Amino acid sequence: MNRATISMCLFVLLSLPCGRLAAQANGLAKTPPMGWSSWNLFACNVKDADVRAQADAMASNGMREAGYQYVNIDDCWEGKRDAQGNIQSNERFPDMKALADYVHSKGLKIGIYSGPGPKTCGGFEASYQHEEQDARTYAAWGIDYLKYDMCSARNMFRDEEWPGVYKKMGDALMKSGRPIVYSISHGDNQRIWSWAPSSGANLWRIGTDIRPDHEIIEHFAFLDAGLERYAGPGHWNDPDMLEVGNGKLNADEDRQHFGLWCLLAAPLIAGNDLAHMSPEIQAILTNREAIAMDQDPAGIQGKSVWQEGPVSVWVKPLADGSKAVGLVNMGESPNAIEFSFRDAGLPEWAELRDVFNHKDLGVFEKTFKATVPTRGILLLRVCPVTTGTAKPQD
Ligand code: GLA
Repeated sequence: MNRATISMCLFVLLSLPCGRLAAQANGLAKTPPMGWSSWNLFACNVKDADVRAQADAMASNGMREAGYQYVNIDDCWEGKRDAQGNIQSNERFPDMKALADYVHSKGLKIGIYSGPGPKTCGGFEASYQHEEQDARTYAAWGIDYLKYDMCSARNMFRDEEWPGVYKKMGDALMKSGRPIVYSISHGDNQRIWSWAPSSGANLWRIGTDIRPDHEIIEHFAFLDAGLERYAGPGHWNDPDMLEVGNGKLNADEDRQHFGLWCLLAAPLIAGNDLAHMSPEIQAILTNREAIAMDQDPAGIQGKSVWQEGPVSVWVKPLADGSKAVGLVNMGESPNAIEFSFRDAGLPEWAELRDVFNHKDLGVFEKTFKATVPTRGILLLRVCPVTTGTAKPQD
């Protein structure tokens, strides 16, 4: 973008939606957390060496520099409690403190998993009636992030009790004295977004489990669209971890998945094998222009502003006055999508940049039309300009 255009972007005043929630008391996750989690790749087979290998990869393949920070152990690390009730890790994690030290030595942070019931979803020991004790243990190990998952607590509490149930661990983490990002997960019910912020959560899962399947990814993207007023610095809707690079998703589907998560200001928690990924997948996960949209300091979650059949246009306002725009094709064939600047709240003239191809497209008047591949996305950074010479469209 040229200098005149950039200064115009900075000139446009940001107007934050009214009534947005304040950041959480722990002061963490001012932008959506970025990292990796063991679940989508290893499920219950994860062990110490796997976590170290993923940390090594994140620290050496450009992900750390692109903003990825947390290396999260999901379920299945837990052992029994000792005679004093302290949670122990199991034989696959011989020394959790040493593992945390290792991850920290790579300039990264480490996450762990538990839940408010007696058992985790994998049937391991969870934190029921041990909340403060577990928070103290996590702090002593050097844990920086906790995912707290309903699982066996499902039938233990009445609807109105859930905020208090999760707040118990939120308070325990605060009391532990260590800054620990608090991520909660509550299946697919209870309108979690309406009460999760009061439990101290920095992020909350809005639904059940993601899979590397385009239909599921589409489902979660649209489930999250419309929840934008609950998101903001310190507290984020979580449409679940990334499946980029997993299963049979092709590059267009991976780009669409990643682009939508960036437009939604979703946490970017990779779930693939960081130590063995193709350069194409690595390029998607480390696309700094897309990540800058997700991590934009204004923290405004984007939404779908226009939809017709399988095609839609998504817009996320950014702090400098420009907009992240996604032309999204959920269809089974390539589709032409016409993006009207008015739908995005833009003036008549705007300068466009293709984020996945790192390419300036030029200045356009009122609309922009492009053919988007099957299950693909054209992710644009759009900057309003006062007047210009429109580039002719084919
Ligand atoms: C639930 C969660 C998953 C994962 C598993 C672990 O299904 O939704 O993300 O944490 O539990 O058992």
